[in-house]
Amino acid sequence: MNDTDDSVEIKSILVAVDGSEHSLKAVRYACAMGPPLGAEVVLLHVVPMLVSATPYHDTVSDQPFLALQKVGEDILARAKTIASDCNCQAIDMISHGDPAAKIIDIASERGTDIIILGSRGLSGIRRLFVGSISDKVASHAHCPVMIVR
Ligand SMILES: Nc1ncnc2c1ncn2[C@@H]1O[C@H](COP(=O)(O)OP(=O)(O)O)[C@@H](O)[C@H]1O
Ligand SMILES: [Mg+2]
Repeated sequence: MNDTDDSVEIKSILVAVDGSEHSLKAVRYACAMGPPLGAEVVLLHVVPMLVSATPYHDTVSDQPFLALQKVGEDILARAKTIASDCNCQAIDMISHGDPAAKIIDIASERGTDIIILGSRGLSGIRRLFVGSISDKVASHAHCPVMIVR
């Protein structure tokens, strides 16, 4: 193995955003790192879904989903504003399902070089060292994970 095989390139950064202060701080770290490295910055929000989508939709049962979708879009819009304030052109992405599993799968599919998350999120349970989603992603992701506190 020569030096080239060992070289590290960070060309794609994935930031997981749930709207919490820690996750917005994670966006600022990603935006500080992305442009100088020439790396793309992807802002990902996962709309939490307990039950997988069925083909049977009606207006009543779609309402909670549509509300969460709207919340997710607002969270991403806020993250995008922070990114552009940091002079970083970020790509925003919304997904649906189990947040930790989706973050891990999308990072792997995209060939993400580093994932950045907040140490805590919206539930902010203090007895845990880090939130359960940060913990799962840090344990199972294919790439390095940076947890912003
Ligand atoms: N639904 C989500 N979509 C994208 N990222 C998320 C989501 N939920 C949590 N995260 C990321 O994980 C970090 C930690 O959140 P989490 O583990 O859920 O802690 P808590 O238990 O305090 O809510 C957040 O700061 C954010 O970066
Ligand atoms: Mg949470």
